[in-house]
Amino acid sequence: MPDATRTFALCCLLAACTDEGSSASVAASHDSEAEISAVTYHGAVKAILDAKCVQCHASGGVGPLSLQTYEEARVLAPVLADMLAARIMPPWPPDDSCRAYRHDRSLSEEQERLLLEWVDQGIAEGDPTESLGSPSGSQDELEYDITLALDELYTPVLLPDEYRCFLLPWPSEQGRYITGLGVVPGDRQMIHHVAVYAIPPADVAVYRALDDADPAPGYVCYGGPGGGDTGAGWRASWLRVWVPGSTDDAMPEGTGIRIEPGSMIAVQMHYHTPASAQPGPTRIAFRTAAAVARPAVVLPFTNPFWVDGSQPMRIPAGDAAVTHSFEFDVAP
Ligand code: HEC
Repeated sequence: MPDATRTFALCCLLAACTDEGSSASVAASHDSEAEISAVTYHGAVKAILDAKCVQCHASGGVGPLSLQTYEEARVLAPVLADMLAARIMPPWPPDDSCRAYRHDRSLSEEQERLLLEWVDQGIAEGDPTESLGSPSGSQDELEYDITLALDELYTPVLLPDEYRCFLLPWPSEQGRYITGLGVVPGDRQMIHHVAVYAIPPADVAVYRALDDADPAPGYVCYGGPGGGDTGAGWRASWLRVWVPGSTDDAMPEGTGIRIEPGSMIAVQMHYHTPASAQPGPTRIAFRTAAAVARPAVVLPFTNPFWVDGSQPMRIPAGDAAVTHSFEFDVAP
């Protein structure tokens, strides 16, 4: 595996920073003629809701209401101003004052202004044939060449949460690079996250043993794919974490995560278990390439030993100048 050119693909929220910036105002470009005409659902609002709300607010989604059609979006009228003022929706806690983040869910000022004007001006529908939103409300989807499914259905039993890992053999017989990854959760209301890892061939036996030792499908795992005291957990490659609201994820252009033939995919499911849980099969879709310009790894977000407490990040009381640093060897 080439190592000198290896690069971090900092995919997770805390570390992600690209020059894409926020996905900017979807409905920002309108000419002066549009400026003076009324804001309508099809003329501006649908595109904003499609970009910033329907990942969660679609039927079967984690949000309590669907916002995919004009009739559905009308319910926003009485609550919108207060909701935006209180910054409750869309949920986006990160502060963007030091850097921009990929997948920024917050509304731009322009988007907020358009939504508020739409309500003030009487929630007009506008012309569906000129709609700026997408017909299905869905976003751009990646094209995948490998799709794996957790076909062996499992019903979580632990309340209120259960973490369980499932193994899926990696089907390709050649070394490949994963350049994009999509997750279709088997139940959007109860699945809190889906974390996807690649297990290198040399560690597959460790994971198979965990699976075999648990009579139910998969095995209990927490904080990673498992691997117990063998250290295998640290050798697994992070590929992607899906959470409610996530959309398909492409790696930065020209990068990809190497995966060897004979590897295993471990999928950690976090179920926030309702009493009547019965999730369907979760699917994981991969876009792969035979070669990439820069092989990449995902570094979750920080030194894992700070998080597990074995090397705590102490900040002594009253000490105003504490620094902690962390180096990570990405060589194979
Ligand atoms: C990441 C997922 C997510 C996104 C994106 C999101 N929401 Fe929500 N929304 C939720 C969840 C979950 C709740 C329920 C919160 C609760 O019950 O405390 C909610 C609640 C709401 C409610 C209150 C519904 C009620 O019954 O009280 C409204 C209104 C709403 N969202 C509008 C929006 C709008 C408008 C957007 C886009 C600008 C948006 N949301 C984006 C997840 C999301």
